[in-house]
Amino acid sequence: AIKLVTTAAELRAESARLLAEKKGSSQGLVPTMGALHAGHANLARTAVEQNDVVVATIFVNPLQFGDAVDLDRYPRTLDADMALLDAEGVDLVFAPSVEEVYPLGEPMVRVTAGAMGNTWEGASRPGHFDGALTVVSKLLHYGLPGGASPDGSTAAYRAYFGQKDAQQLALVKRMVSDLNFPVQIVAVPTVRDDDGLALSSRNRFLSGDEREAALVLSRALRLIEQRAQAHEPLDLDSAVALVESQPLVQLDYFDVVDPRTLEPLAENCKETPFRGEGLAIIAAKVGPVRLIDNVPLDS
Ligand code: PAJ
Repeated sequence: AIKLVTTAAELRAESARLLAEKKGSSQGLVPTMGALHAGHANLARTAVEQNDVVVATIFVNPLQFGDAVDLDRYPRTLDADMALLDAEGVDLVFAPSVEEVYPLGEPMVRVTAGAMGNTWEGASRPGHFDGALTVVSKLLHYGLPGGASPDGSTAAYRAYFGQKDAQQLALVKRMVSDLNFPVQIVAVPTVRDDDGLALSSRNRFLSGDEREAALVLSRALRLIEQRAQAHEPLDLDSAVALVESQPLVQLDYFDVVDPRTLEPLAENCKETPFRGEGLAIIAAKVGPVRLIDNVPLDS
């Protein structure tokens, strides 16, 4: 059965115990902020398939929230989260308090995301990615496989992130590479509702009409994806027009970028038959809710 721990010391001890008990040679980490849905379940499932021991973390990180109101109203559903993770076969849940994670108060030394942290989502959420990367670096350290096997080898270590948050994923990969974190980052595809809406803990704040209107985001992305697959010009303008035809939707950005640097692809890639790799990204406000979505292009 799944076990809940709240301190780094317990986490280390339980990880060592589980690896020894299962004679395990790999550990997976699934960082979350809770309020779990089928998207998170997909991360957990993938981690369980690929590792002997799986740890999920649940921590609503104050450092990555712009305002206290947003932080306060972030949904907290620990019992349901535990049940979902248990059903996926996760071994351990690490749900520390703010004091456990930040015992000296706000950290003085932090990770900065650099230029990639100031564009797209970063442009409307100043400091967000610095806060997210700082806590991800801490979580990656907490989640290191505990102990060592009798032959002295240490377990393989993998951490799972959703494609849904493409900019966060690109930044975490870049941090791990730039700063030599001993972990392999695994990207997991976006889980959508049957109608195409990408699952998000924020979808619960949409009214019926707003939810219907929000479908235009995934429709516009799908249009771009189909054109890429057919090696047609992506014709971003017509997809933008589709989004803007929806009065309840206020478009923030819509572009096709390099999936690693998040820099826009050259204009001629959008106007000539498309071949290669890209990432179509979109963000919009639908009623009171800011939504993001993306689709990887590879043709
Ligand atoms: P959170 O929003 O809880 O998301 C946790 C993980 O679930 C992220 O890697 C996110 O990309 C993934 N995820 C969310 N919706 C998804 C969907 N529909 N399909 C697939 N994966 C999805 O992202 C965070 O928490 C935080 O920033 C965190 C990394 C935990 C640091 O605080």
